[in-house]
Amino acid sequence: MDVYDAVTSRRAVRGFTDEPVSPQVLHRVLEAAAWAPSGSNLQPWHIYVVTGTPLTRMKTLATDRVAAGDPWDEREYVMYPPELKSPYRDRRSQFGRERYSALGIEREDWEARQRAAIANWDCFGAPAALFCYVDRDMGLPQWSDLGMYLQTVMLLLRAEGLHSCPQMAWSQVRATVAEVLSPPENLILFCGMSIGYEDPSVNVIRTGRCPLRETVSFVGQCQ
Ligand SMILES: Cc1cc2nc3c(=O)[nH]c(=O)nc-3n(C[C@H](O)[C@H](O)[C@H](O)COP(=O)(O)O)c2cc1C
Repeated sequence: MDVYDAVTSRRAVRGFTDEPVSPQVLHRVLEAAAWAPSGSNLQPWHIYVVTGTPLTRMKTLATDRVAAGDPWDEREYVMYPPELKSPYRDRRSQFGRERYSALGIEREDWEARQRAAIANWDCFGAPAALFCYVDRDMGLPQWSDLGMYLQTVMLLLRAEGLHSCPQMAWSQVRATVAEVLSPPENLILFCGMSIGYEDPSVNVIRTGRCPLRETVSFVGQCQ
């Protein structure tokens, strides 16, 4: 698959079939993703790949917990600035409109939105997931390395005909994830990622992007 096709066909997919993902494919993807860049080649990512019984257990524990209205685990990092200013706030609202209109959910329908959100902890039906941890000593540049690594994984998954959804939602129930994975104390869970084959029956609206001029300034001859 051409790199442009991998980039443009990657979406946060929120509906997967139960078709299993071959362990060989996951190995191939993660072997290649290890070539992602990182400052001074620290490779600060710690990845757990979870399938089968442990994933089923994690999904059950997490969805039961969220459905019961348990409070989130104490945060280990700030997901978004508390006062999200423009243009970020507008972009987030636009995303919410796109996401819920795809599902036919009215803006005021809090219950339906909660039902849609809870699918996060079922990995949207995906039969495989990865969990990305980072050492708590690491700083902002190493966290950005995680992003490069995870995008590399997602693009390679496209080359294998697979889809994914990165999910910070898992960090809200990090203790439940830890119950299954028992990670060392020094690691912080950044996010999970659902992995599988897209369920074509799930309604999708492609999220848009702002015009290039809002995020890119060309300086010099490339204008
Ligand atoms: C670090 C990160 C965390 C995310 N967390 C979630 C999540 O918890 N649940 C979810 O449904 N989508 C999550 N997303 C997906 C974003 O909502 C999505 O990437 C964005 O709206 C752009 O849409 P697209 O990826 O389909 O192009 C996350 C994306 C990133 C990069």
